[in-house]
Amino acid sequence: RSLLARCSLVSRPSYAPHRIDDPSYVRIFDTTLRDGEQSPGATMTSKEKLAVARQLARLGVDIIEAGFPASSPDDLDAVRSIAIEVGNCPDEDGYVPVICGLSRCNKSDIDAAWEAVRHAMRPRVHTFIATSEIHMKYKLRKSREEVVRIASEMVAYARSLGCEDVEFSPEDAGRSDREFLYHILEEVIKAGATTLNIPDTVGYTLPSEFGRLIADIKANTRGIENVVISTHCQNDLGLATANTLAGAYAGARQVEVTVNGIGERAGNASLEEVVMAIKCRKELMGGLHTGINTKHIVTASKMVAEYSGLHVQPHKAIVGLNAFAHESGIHQDGMLKHKSTYEIISPEDIGLTRSNESGIVLGKLSGRHALRSRLLELGYDIIGKELDDVFKRFKEVAEKKKHVSDDDIEALISVEIFQP
Ligand code: KIV
Repeated sequence: RSLLARCSLVSRPSYAPHRIDDPSYVRIFDTTLRDGEQSPGATMTSKEKLAVARQLARLGVDIIEAGFPASSPDDLDAVRSIAIEVGNCPDEDGYVPVICGLSRCNKSDIDAAWEAVRHAMRPRVHTFIATSEIHMKYKLRKSREEVVRIASEMVAYARSLGCEDVEFSPEDAGRSDREFLYHILEEVIKAGATTLNIPDTVGYTLPSEFGRLIADIKANTRGIENVVISTHCQNDLGLATANTLAGAYAGARQVEVTVNGIGERAGNASLEEVVMAIKCRKELMGGLHTGINTKHIVTASKMVAEYSGLHVQPHKAIVGLNAFAHESGIHQDGMLKHKSTYEIISPEDIGLTRSNESGIVLGKLSGRHALRSRLLELGYDIIGKELDDVFKRFKEVAEKKKHVSDDDIEALISVEIFQP
């Protein structure tokens, strides 16, 4: 209660309007705390969720889907405290993220979502119902007409509670009939939906197909120009990032992602991959850009890995342990001559501080050039015969160990220097 009182004293800022008006601006909708938490075993405590939400706000995420309030009283409480604590405290630029709660298309879910998010300055209710023949027939056991009626009634219901920002998702849109999709989307726009999210729920589409789907929806849905189109791509075929980029290129201006790509089954499009691809290939992406401060990516990734217990695979793009490590002699030689030879992103851009300048990992494939460079970084200027001897001993050690550490090198040097 006292927290609510404190937060309501903050005057409403302008919410960084460039984020809304710029046609090339892609909103980042993070669902780590909702879809991400649906990864088996990834449950986080309310305190951990709050800490993640704060980090997402620091990153500059536009919309934080904080949970699924109807799923449990604990989740409702967690979403509510995120709405109060994170959704009410703008930074010095007046930026405050939208706080969103998920609900199925029924009144009690929507009530729970609204009860949780309404304390935020910018609350959003996200409601969904399945629209593919498979889901309607086997899961919902409802006709197309019933699904359209429920969807538009529930969007209107959410609006009637006072929620001005309502997102609608036709679940399994990737496998839904196109004409039916256009129809249901038109009806929910009329009912007051402000964002239309297009989920590839089972990660089934190919990038060209998903891009076409977004372009077709944009071209064939009446009223679409008044709402934001969004993507939500699952990763069952390993295509979530590619599909998301194809969707953004085709006109989606919101993308739903998770930190480290966690989520149901094979996960979701990962925030760091989508954001860095848009940043790194801006021209090819038609000038699209996001509001993410990429320097906070590594901290967010580590925090989510620790709290969710889902550790990041070493070769994961952008945030994996090896994403900026160079092992082969040829690559190391290139890196020592110029970093752009083998790095398309600078590690500092994502907030990564490497233990050594060049990112070189010494192992059995490393050459003399790499060893000498590391020795120099460690303060040993060794050349000629002395270097030959250290390199020989280094190769012997590297044959037995996956990586030769700085301690190993120090040991090699002391043997070399102090041996009679
Ligand atoms: O994968 C999905 O379809 C979802 C929706 C609720 C957006 O998570």
